[in-house]
Amino acid sequence: MADNFPMIFSEFELGPVTLANRVYHSPVTLNYLDWNTGFPKEELAYYYAERARGGVGLIIQGAVDVHPASQYWPVPHSRLYDEASIPSFRRIVDMVHDAGAKIFIELFHVGQASNTRTYGAASVGPSSIPSMVAGTTPKSMELDDIEEAIAAFETTTKNAVEAGYDGIELHASHGYLLEQFLSPYYNRRNDEYGGSLENRMRMLLETLERCRNIAGKDIAMGVRLVADELLPGGLTLDDTLEIAERLADTDMIDFLDIDVGSHQNYHVTMSPMYGSPGYNLPYSAAIREAVDPLPVLCAPGRLVDPAEAEKALTEGQADMIGLGRALIADPDWVQKTLDGRESSIRHCVFCNQYTMGNLYKGLPVGCIQNPVTGREATRGSGTLVSVVQKKKVVVIGAGPAGMEVARLASQRGHDVSLYEKEQEPGGQILLAAKLPGRDAIGGVVRWQQQQLEKAGVKIITGCEVSADQVGDMDTDAVIVATGASYLSTGMSAMIPMPLPGSDVPGRVVTPEIVLRGECEPGPVVVVLDSDGHVTPPGIAELLASRGHQVSIISAAPVIGNKLVEEMNMPYVYARLEEHNVELLSSTWVTEIRDGEMDIFNVFAPTKQRTIKADTVVMAAGRETHDQLYHQLKPFIDEVHRIGDCISPGDIGTAMLSADTLGRSL
Ligand SMILES: Cc1cc2nc3c(=O)[nH]c(=O)nc-3n(C[C@H](O)[C@H](O)[C@H](O)COP(=O)(O)OP(=O)(O)OC[C@H]3O[C@@H](n4cnc5c(N)ncnc54)[C@H](O)[C@@H]3O)c2cc1C
Ligand SMILES: Cc1cc2nc3c(=O)[nH]c(=O)nc-3n(C[C@H](O)[C@H](O)[C@H](O)COP(=O)(O)O)c2cc1C
Ligand code: SF4
Repeated sequence: MADNFPMIFSEFELGPVTLANRVYHSPVTLNYLDWNTGFPKEELAYYYAERARGGVGLIIQGAVDVHPASQYWPVPHSRLYDEASIPSFRRIVDMVHDAGAKIFIELFHVGQASNTRTYGAASVGPSSIPSMVAGTTPKSMELDDIEEAIAAFETTTKNAVEAGYDGIELHASHGYLLEQFLSPYYNRRNDEYGGSLENRMRMLLETLERCRNIAGKDIAMGVRLVADELLPGGLTLDDTLEIAERLADTDMIDFLDIDVGSHQNYHVTMSPMYGSPGYNLPYSAAIREAVDPLPVLCAPGRLVDPAEAEKALTEGQADMIGLGRALIADPDWVQKTLDGRESSIRHCVFCNQYTMGNLYKGLPVGCIQNPVTGREATRGSGTLVSVVQKKKVVVIGAGPAGMEVARLASQRGHDVSLYEKEQEPGGQILLAAKLPGRDAIGGVVRWQQQQLEKAGVKIITGCEVSADQVGDMDTDAVIVATGASYLSTGMSAMIPMPLPGSDVPGRVVTPEIVLRGECEPGPVVVVLDSDGHVTPPGIAELLASRGHQVSIISAAPVIGNKLVEEMNMPYVYARLEEHNVELLSSTWVTEIRDGEMDIFNVFAPTKQRTIKADTVVMAAGRETHDQLYHQLKPFIDEVHRIGDCISPGDIGTAMLSADTLGRSL
């Protein structure tokens, strides 16, 4: 209720723009664009309109390119510098306005981080400092290049105004061009754009002045400013306090938007569940005090609880609170808070899987928990239709897939019973949450369980359903959601057949057996990893913390390759290092014997050796539990299967198959 959150639900003036509340959608790149034209797709308008309908006062749309030299690998950004793109941007603005929110847009030039392969010319930066992310060395910008970049910001501002945006945010954070000029780490110039702070600020100030002149006074103008680059020799809070004060003194800006981290430490900027929540707030608090009364916006980082947002506002740590991933996971965060339904917010679990993970694969952003994210046009609010003919539906298996389909089917009006063989619903997620540092992932099923109760689904736990039992049930439709599990044979893409010696009892266990505490591993443990994700390192850390000597073996050149995209790697590697876990990459196994195993280098197969291994944990290869489905298919008219029991996947694929079926049943 608004009375419980008086700060969140107080009107706020941001320069010339009046906002209904103090929550903003922090800028997020979603990759809902046509890669040929670089124009936003209709999906982007629907995504933002859904958040506007969900009550957020302000949306700051994710970064758009101001110049072709800003193309960023591996994710392209929309090209608002191109006049022809204006109608597609105007569509976003109109839909957000119609839904009752204001919308700003963030403009950026990536500078030294650009993709020179698609651009066809050198990347540019203040100095020729090699880019860690692009792997290239930029051309040091000549005065003409600087003028061209500033003019590009100007043109893009003009297009943004024409598209109808209420405000503009210049991106001077995350290691992009405007930050690069400010930063002694990236900027080693000795002309009027480098050296002293005054000179390093020149690029930003000139850009700001010229954009402000184009935008006029009716449009809000602000800067997303890095508060600390967290780089050796980079900008620190002391430096940015001075930058912020000088910016405030210009009278050219209506707000600052504060966060931390440059390109090299995105794992802090977009911290996954291993990091600490609220990491940006101490910085915004310090800057707010220095620039008072200029409004300071801040996405605290990993914020999901409205009470935390209210507290930060009350304590004066920021004037507005930004949410990124919390709104990707639940578009109705603000409305639920306003209605006193904050306990039904679907909390982001900060897995980074379909957000940063998707972006770094060149895929559109989604959410593992919420299959509607990115599909608002067809599955957004108002699209779930009530059933014409009510059915008796039996769902077998209460993992995330079974729970999701049961919820949707029941909400649409079917009579749903959900059977689970364990004492508790949750499926594999209950085990996933036992991995060190990953208890947050359990939030996925906590929310589902709460919603099932509200939806009136009958849940029967401790009941392993057989085909005969189903035959005796009075039911119109059966949905099999019986999941998958790790194989103990070690079959993987590297050697798609059982590993010799894996069949001898006692030598080999699966991650599930370890997590359920159903085995006594020997002193020396080897974890075989064909996953590249969180389970193998998690199991290794768990056993190492109990005193075992642990190694991870993977055929991949980098152990945990999927952890890089999801910004998990720095945290996971630090934890493994702390527990002295040995990492053997580019390595696989030829034979497992009692107390030892033969291994080889996958790039030099003749290089073989024997290592000690009392217990082998097989995080390699998974099998579906689809027997029940095949038993039922011949004699049940309507039988479906969803989730891992079709093919072992992840939470997101399980949820998506459940959502698709739940809407059509
Ligand atoms: C250790 C571990 C960590 C993981 N970490 C992640 C992660 O970080 N991110 C991610 O996306 N994915 C992760 N996964 C994978 C993810 O949990 C699965 O992809 C997801 O749970 C699949 O959902 P599901 O509902 O299809 O199947 P499941 O979760 O397997 O659920 C199936 C359910 O059916 C029940 N069941 C089976 N047979 C019967 C029967 N005959 N009668 C009644 N009930 C039955 C089972 O007990 C189970 O509860 C992890 C998996 C493990 C094991
Ligand atoms: C998928 C994704 C894309 C992002 N894209 C941008 C962007 O385009 N511009 C920007 O300034 N910040 C971007 N961010 C950072 C967010 O605005 C925000 O500062 C950060 O995610 C921390 O807030 P959160 O914990 O509420 O998500 C992005 C974050 C995510 C997860
Ligand atoms: S995919 Fe994970 S991090 Fe991204 S919004 Fe969903 S729960 Fe949050």
